[in-house]
Amino acid sequence: MAERSLLLLKPDVIHRSLVGTIIARIEARNFKIVALKMFDLTRETLDEHYAHIVAKHFYPEIVSYMTMGPVVGIIVEGKDVVAGMRQLCGATNPAAAEMGTLRADYSNNIGFNIIHGSDTPENAEIEILRFFDADEVCSYERKIIA
Ligand code: CDP
Ligand code: MG
Repeated sequence: MAERSLLLLKPDVIHRSLVGTIIARIEARNFKIVALKMFDLTRETLDEHYAHIVAKHFYPEIVSYMTMGPVVGIIVEGKDVVAGMRQLCGATNPAAAEMGTLRADYSNNIGFNIIHGSDTPENAEIEILRFFDADEVCSYERKIIA
């Protein structure tokens, strides 16, 4: 199976009407979108997704950020898509991210860093199972060179 990554467009992207802009940047990179939906995160799912930061002092702010509205979940597929999407997202802190990355181009605040991308192919598969049912993922051939 092709490598996949799980992306979340965080709630501020919806609030700021940047959904189309961010998706256009992902498409411009020529990653193949195989699933896409808007939904609210439950506290239980968020705690699971962010188990590695749940004990951090800033976690309550993350909870209020990630539950201030719906998120857009996207599964993208492609060669080295996990590293490629991390590169496109940029550093966790938008203020330190390279210009041209999504986080630098659309944010200046670590508290609102607009997008999640899986950090390893293995974690991507775990995150896909966390957020998507199998019948929500499309299988199709692209008529272009990927
Ligand atoms: O999202 P990424 O993989 O780049 O970073 P992470 O270390 O997995 O942290 C998850 C999320 O916690 C980040 O995307 C930020 O939204 C938030 N965070 C924060 O607000 N302040 C920090 N010092 C570290 C992370
Ligand atoms: Mg992470």
